[in-house]
Amino acid sequence: MSTPTFFPQDIIIKKRDGGALTKDEIEFFARGVSDGKSFADYQATALLMAIFWRGMTPQETAWLTDAMMRSGDVIDLSDLPGAKVDKHSTGGVGDKVSLILAPLAVACGLKVPMMSGRGLGHTGGTLDKLEAIPGFKVNLSVPEFRAILQKVGCAMIGQTPQVVPADKKLYSLRDVTGTVECIPLICASIMSKKLAEGIDSLVLDVKFGRGAFMKKKEDALTLARAMVAVGKAGGKPVRALLTAMNQPLGRAAGHTTEVIESIECLKGRGPADLMEVTYALTGQMLLLGGKAKDEADARRQMEAAIAKGAALKVFREMCIAQGGDPKVVDDYKILPTAKRLLEVKAPADAQGFVSEVDALKCGHAIMALGGGRAAVTDKVDHAVGIADLIKIGEKVSAGTRLCTLHINDDSKGVRAESFIREAVKFTPAAPKQEPLVQDLIQ
Ligand code: URA
Repeated sequence: MSTPTFFPQDIIIKKRDGGALTKDEIEFFARGVSDGKSFADYQATALLMAIFWRGMTPQETAWLTDAMMRSGDVIDLSDLPGAKVDKHSTGGVGDKVSLILAPLAVACGLKVPMMSGRGLGHTGGTLDKLEAIPGFKVNLSVPEFRAILQKVGCAMIGQTPQVVPADKKLYSLRDVTGTVECIPLICASIMSKKLAEGIDSLVLDVKFGRGAFMKKKEDALTLARAMVAVGKAGGKPVRALLTAMNQPLGRAAGHTTEVIESIECLKGRGPADLMEVTYALTGQMLLLGGKAKDEADARRQMEAAIAKGAALKVFREMCIAQGGDPKVVDDYKILPTAKRLLEVKAPADAQGFVSEVDALKCGHAIMALGGGRAAVTDKVDHAVGIADLIKIGEKVSAGTRLCTLHINDDSKGVRAESFIREAVKFTPAAPKQEPLVQDLIQ
């Protein structure tokens, strides 16, 4: 059925004055921005700003998500046997959970079709991390994606241009018009892409805190509820975990350093905080996919899959299927390596415990080293990064190592070191630790 024709200015005025848009008006907008004909960029940005100020009802948000999803190809994986469950994170520093979770979930019986993003600003992106592995290809066609899913059980690729073209256009307009931080628009942007992947259900990691997109827990909660509601409206079960992102996840941030830490997790030697978030999210996926009867059962299966090497085996198979060198699993030296290591040590007056490791400042340290991206077109240096990062609650005294910086340029190393020194704070008494996984929204 074709969408009736409207005048864009009428839709803009309606939203500007606080009205609720109809399904047809929203479809006209999504189609108009995708085909570039009936909604000019200046009209689309005016409407985005009106939505920013006036908001959208849950029904409008669900319609917008659906219209954006249908602006391009919707992948149909219904002929692939098994439960297809994905995970999406709103992003943070050191968040390498996808690299561990996807093979782990497959080893426990799920299929994981994952379309991921690149890093922007202080947060890293899964695709950039995977590309640190020599030969690993993330720009695969939908038929290649499907074939790898069938053979290996998981595939991790970039967004193809045919999937949700409306978001590509709208996100690029929002990025330069001050309309990114708007919950209905974020919700429609994320959920349209996830629902177009052909999944049966979805687990969301909605992060809040210093290093997250959402700084305040209340905002993260509102976004999580909106995304779960939109999933339900689209007929897909969605669960969201709210997780704290005040300090980086794990002890590594960057690309090579995060790939190494992920493989260590798959070998059963991962840091406790990273494993806690990974198990919490993968556990919810197993519950949604009908592979576990409760959280304790999910945990038993996941621990066994790590202990027996089953999850590591899937990771190796995914590397082979996507053109990556599987030797990476046994020999980290094949990854891009930085010229020099620089240990950052606690100052002479340091005493007591670590009270803060500011994730945002650690993200700035990565940017300073050349391992981040200020603009979408920037190239990242995979070799640089942070390793051995100290965690909140650990004991310190003069000269304790705070982290090891992997650097390719001494002057950039000096800048990164000063960010780390600003990030890490000390306190005489052991600090109270905030729980990492805080709420489940379903
Ligand atoms: N990530 C997305 O994909 N879209 C947004 O709007 C914000 C974060």
